[in-house]
Amino acid sequence: MRAMVVEQWGGPENLVEREVERPEPGLNEVLVRVHAAGVNPVDWKTRESGALIGWGAVPVVGWDVSGTVEAVGPGVGNLRPGDEVFGMPLFPRQAGAYAEYVVAPARHLAPKPASLTHVEAAALPLAALTAWQALVDTADVQPGERVLVHAAAGGVGHFAVQIAKARGAYVIGTASGPKHDLVRELGADEVVDYRTDRFEDVVSGVDVVIDGLGGETAERSMKLLRAGGRLVTLPGPDGVPAAQDGVRAVWVLVEPDHLGLREIAALVERGELRPVVDTVLPLADAAKAHELGERGRTTGKIVLTVA
Ligand SMILES: NC(=O)c1ccc[n+]([C@@H]2O[C@H](COP(=O)([O-])OP(=O)(O)OC[C@H]3O[C@@H](n4cnc5c(N)ncnc54)[C@H](OP(=O)(O)O)[C@@H]3O)[C@@H](O)[C@H]2O)c1
Repeated sequence: MRAMVVEQWGGPENLVEREVERPEPGLNEVLVRVHAAGVNPVDWKTRESGALIGWGAVPVVGWDVSGTVEAVGPGVGNLRPGDEVFGMPLFPRQAGAYAEYVVAPARHLAPKPASLTHVEAAALPLAALTAWQALVDTADVQPGERVLVHAAAGGVGHFAVQIAKARGAYVIGTASGPKHDLVRELGADEVVDYRTDRFEDVVSGVDVVIDGLGGETAERSMKLLRAGGRLVTLPGPDGVPAAQDGVRAVWVLVEPDHLGLREIAALVERGELRPVVDTVLPLADAAKAHELGERGRTTGKIVLTVA
């Protein structure tokens, strides 16, 4: 099968198209024919340094997939050949989504929302599950709470705005000016232009922060949290702010979760969540997708088409 292989850790030019062995599904696994693969910052962070654990002999980056079940391994009862599925299998171990086929544990996938194309569905898994697990599983956001979403126009942020809104929160997003209309349209009650205002000068009394930026943004955001406040930072475990009186901060790493994917699909089907796809490129242009993404200006998601 065709795959975009990282022959050497480093820049985007190291992503090269190669013929590799098609994987076989083992116990409780399915083989998925990939129609589209979503692109996430962890893809280029991994390509750069191979930082994550458990890489196979042929390193193929990528986790987000939407596709069709081609074959099922022994023990799989919930999926059949022909089913349309989406997910982010195996993360943070290697899945190899930048390829024509991936093998996935059956319970790392869920039925693709019928109203979405494969390109749209491939935009969802990792970023939307991150937003879900941060807001719902970790922060347990409640109706009426005030939620501040940093990088609200980005991959995780644009889902976090919609999920927080769907849970009845009051949502404040940070984004550059040209993206404000979109962030409002997705459900934000207020949007702060981080290029013209310091967010702490115009926002106060926040219950939950979803921080897609880390570093000093996380530190500055701690001051806005009221008693019982929760800050969830995403970029990495370094520099998580220390807990303060009645306020906690945590880094969480997203994990495959078919129940979360089903909740996300249900939000899509109810019209409460939609993926914004910024750029669609063929698999062979994966290096270009990384170059674009690494600029840090993506609105919503970048998706690669495979089949
Ligand atoms: N822990 C986990 O499990 C997990 C999961 C997913 C992602 N992450 C991490 O979370 C981070 C965000 O991921 P992502 O997929 O959302 O990234 P992304 O889509 O690449 O984010 C791009 C967005 O960031 C915005 N942005 C950049 N600087 C900003 C600032 N100072 N204030 C407000 N917005 C700003 C940009 O908007 P403008 O063009 O308006 O600047 C752009 O829309 C990455 O570091 C990623 O690795 C972690």
